[in-house]
Amino acid sequence: MQSVSPKTTAADITEAALRSFDGAPNPRIKLLLQAAVRHLHAFATETNLTANELIELAEILTAAGQISDASRHEFLLMSDVMGLTMVVDYNTNKKPDGAFESSVLGPFYRADAPWIELGGDICRQSDMGTPALISGRVLSIDGSPVRDAVLDIWQTPANGMYENTDPSQVDFNCRGRLRAADDGSYRFWTVKPVPYPIPKDGPAGLILNAAKRHNMRAAHVHVIVEAPGHEKVISELFVNGDPYLGSDAVFGVKNSLIANFVLHESADDAEKYGRPVPFFTANYDFVLVPGEAPEEVKFSAGRA
Ligand SMILES: [Fe+2]
Repeated sequence: MQSVSPKTTAADITEAALRSFDGAPNPRIKLLLQAAVRHLHAFATETNLTANELIELAEILTAAGQISDASRHEFLLMSDVMGLTMVVDYNTNKKPDGAFESSVLGPFYRADAPWIELGGDICRQSDMGTPALISGRVLSIDGSPVRDAVLDIWQTPANGMYENTDPSQVDFNCRGRLRAADDGSYRFWTVKPVPYPIPKDGPAGLILNAAKRHNMRAAHVHVIVEAPGHEKVISELFVNGDPYLGSDAVFGVKNSLIANFVLHESADDAEKYGRPVPFFTANYDFVLVPGEAPEEVKFSAGRA
């Protein structure tokens, strides 16, 4: 009597796919690919993913590639709205209590922003929003001032558009780098951040629409703080009272990153700060942890 071969199961296919990467010479690539196989196969089995859904997924990824360009990075945006970016950020940037916490870099960072003086303004055009003075100190976790700290800052003006996606703005508008004083103090002028929509006309929008989620980011100013002998922190400051703090489209808000923006309207304050009212002030101390940055994040958007 002829023996019947056992049927090939999904588990057999997963095992064969895993073994096919055993010979990968780079151990990190091997680990990533095998884990991707394990989790993707489990995803397909758990959801009973259909052939048509798999094809649709491939078409969505194709569309993400097609809509991306120098100033638009749809795959990063998809990662952001799925919360993946913040999970990666959390796993790779754990900080002790009291330290300045990290948040998403976002897809609009541009390296090599122009330097501004201490107390200078990162907005290079007028009428970009209500002015805001952000100041504070860069401190080490033990409370001592950090020397030679550099802040790299970027945000949208009141129209909610980053300059590299908006031809009406001058190059590097609302972006700047600033060196803190020897005592760790820093201050710069910008405009009060506003909530802005992330692009919804591509695959990231499909994801949001599927859940009837809004596409607003809570108002924020991006900041990277680095100093010799300390871990570099990529993060954002948020505005207390902002309506989207609890539902930020990319899950970037952490309680410790929320700052009070105080409105000034009096003639006395105009004289004290040397600036016409109204304007806001916000105070925030960046508390760094001794050490080195774990790994340089290599990303910089271009200008459309
Ligand atoms: Fe942003």
